[in-house]
Amino acid sequence: MSFFIPESYPMRRTWIPETPWSARRPIGMLPPVKESLTPGRRKFRTLAWSVLVFNVMVVLGGAIVRATGSGDGCGESWPLCTDRLIPANPGLETVIEFSHRVTSGLAILGVVTLFVFAVRLYEKGHRVRNGAAASLALLLFESVLGALLIVFSWVDQDASIGRMIVVPIHLLNTYILVGALTLTAWWSSGNPGPTKPIDARMKRSLAFGAVGLLVIGAVGALNALADSLYPAESFLSGVTEEFSADAPWLLQVRVFHPLIAIAVGLGVAYLVMRLAPTATSRTKRLGAAVGVLIVVQLFIGLVNVMLAAPLETQVIHLATADAIWIVYLMFGASLLGEQAPAELPVERVA
Ligand code: HEM
Repeated sequence: MSFFIPESYPMRRTWIPETPWSARRPIGMLPPVKESLTPGRRKFRTLAWSVLVFNVMVVLGGAIVRATGSGDGCGESWPLCTDRLIPANPGLETVIEFSHRVTSGLAILGVVTLFVFAVRLYEKGHRVRNGAAASLALLLFESVLGALLIVFSWVDQDASIGRMIVVPIHLLNTYILVGALTLTAWWSSGNPGPTKPIDARMKRSLAFGAVGLLVIGAVGALNALADSLYPAESFLSGVTEEFSADAPWLLQVRVFHPLIAIAVGLGVAYLVMRLAPTATSRTKRLGAAVGVLIVVQLFIGLVNVMLAAPLETQVIHLATADAIWIVYLMFGASLLGEQAPAELPVERVA
């Protein structure tokens, strides 16, 4: 017996726009169709993931510069270090700051290379090319912010209002840069972009989660600055200083980061849990990873405070924050790239 679909049958069935996301749950999602990559694009994919990893390492290097108070290790000269291309007889602070400058330079080179190859390999308007262009713009802005910190001497023990404004902006820009690099690497791996139409509720939930993570990070950056400027001897002395009437402003607001992180972090985990059931198993795994990383991060944060934020836990805390952000974006991109069966073209069987 043959079965056929008449000519008049619509080839592409679409959602009824008002259908809420939850109503589509029982249908489930189909695995996204991966683009097959040419040899050139395969090399680009390796480059994109390597540039992302290298940039995260540079970000962690920046935290070491801050936590060790090495920000003026090169003096006020920029981009030179102690007025030289390579500092002579450097002390530890100079070595730390100089290494950060060299690795930041290499990161710029990596992102420029990424952009150049994206232009060569992808047509205008392609999401990979746009991602690489955004990464380059954000990295250049990042360098300007880094240079501002040096030129205005917003380093070491400086507690000026200018530094308190630029430090969270610097962290936000870093997050967005890491995000642009993550999406460039993700899409260059053949993963599809968002399939249309995008469910408004899903888009809103993902955006809320992203903004939540950015807010936690920006407030955390102020805590990191407070810990560098007013290091506590112990957990107890830290808490006592925080609640004393004449405590500096940065110490008084230190309590907000853990509170915001617990409320918003668990909120983001909940949003991911709500979105994941409709997804394919790969996206579900990414969602589960976000949830686990958030819970682990809450414990790391607690340990950080209990130990009065030593360098090691500061770096682990920041690395985990970056990991949450990267996996969250991969989760979102994967979810938005999935195709629901009702959206797929209907096969005709003669
Ligand atoms: C989802 C959960 C969390 C995220 C994403 C997060 C993220 C961050 C980020 C991005 C920073 C700035 C690091 C830097 O610039 O070097 C930071 C700093 C800090 N956070 Fe969190 N945090 C979380 C939870 C917590 C919790 C629950 C606590 C305490 C109970 C905590 C304590 C601290 C402390 C003490 C600092 C300053 C010292 C440092 O840099 O490590 N965090 N956090």
